[in-house]
Amino acid sequence: MSAVPVAVVAAPPDAILSVNDISVRFGSLVAVNGVSFEAQRGQITSVIGPNGAGKSTLFNLISGAIRPSAGRVIFDGQDLTGSAPNHMLAAGLARSFQITNLFFELSVRENLRLAAQFLEQGRGLLRPVGSSQLALQRVDELVERFRLERKLDELAGFLSHGEQRRLEIAVALAARPRVLLLDEPTQGMSHADTQETGAMIRSLAGESLSILLVEHDVDLVMSLSDHVVVMHQGGKLAEGTPQLVRSNPAVQSAYFGDATHA
Ligand SMILES: Nc1ncnc2c1ncn2[C@@H]1O[C@H](COP(=O)(O)OP(=O)(O)O)[C@@H](O)[C@H]1O
Ligand SMILES: [Mg+2]
Repeated sequence: MSAVPVAVVAAPPDAILSVNDISVRFGSLVAVNGVSFEAQRGQITSVIGPNGAGKSTLFNLISGAIRPSAGRVIFDGQDLTGSAPNHMLAAGLARSFQITNLFFELSVRENLRLAAQFLEQGRGLLRPVGSSQLALQRVDELVERFRLERKLDELAGFLSHGEQRRLEIAVALAARPRVLLLDEPTQGMSHADTQETGAMIRSLAGESLSILLVEHDVDLVMSLSDHVVVMHQGGKLAEGTPQLVRSNPAVQSAYFGDATHA
């Protein structure tokens, strides 16, 4: 009996997020101009580009903070274009902000508990904070994972910069999202803290969590990412594996040659 030839087919790409031809205009400025890309399930997809390229605006469009003037955001097969951030979060997409989103006058525990409270929201019904077992459990998990045990009762405003950025990621993860958008999570961090945060981000990505990252530290991006999207002046300049993107001449001149990138 002759062997039946078996075609070896690469596993089909499995996009958790598709951004299709998305644009937004602020007055005469087209801040994001016809950008398309896909983020694959379980992977780290990074968006890089010079300061003002439109990276944070792209995140605002994806997370529902602002509505696109054209284009679509498809999350796990569902068209969620222009949905409000809370709806996005309910669907499983959470984000952290380039500018802090913490309540500085509340403790670490309270910041986490408020964010984890989302887990108990039965269709918009908010329960008293004290009664939420699911939320309390989630706070314990996050505190351990992000090594904030000893800071639980400290006010967020009194944490070190590195601890605040870590808490911010923990807050974004509180609702158990399936996609996490991180906008410059290592901004202002020391080299050591940056490396540590990078390792933490890498360890978070997996079957149940896909990560979309805006990051200014190019070496970190190259070592962390499965896929890199390069933006320039609102448009997509290139995308591909870190190696492919790094060796792209257009990227070299627009980005790596530019010492003022952020
Ligand atoms: N809400 C807004 N209103 C007007 N212009 C904006 C707004 N948000 C961002 N911009 C402009 O859009 C461009 C892209 O900004 P941004 O997305 O923050 O860039 P990046 O995050 O890549 O540094 C910049 O020129 C910025 O000034
Ligand atoms: Mg930005």
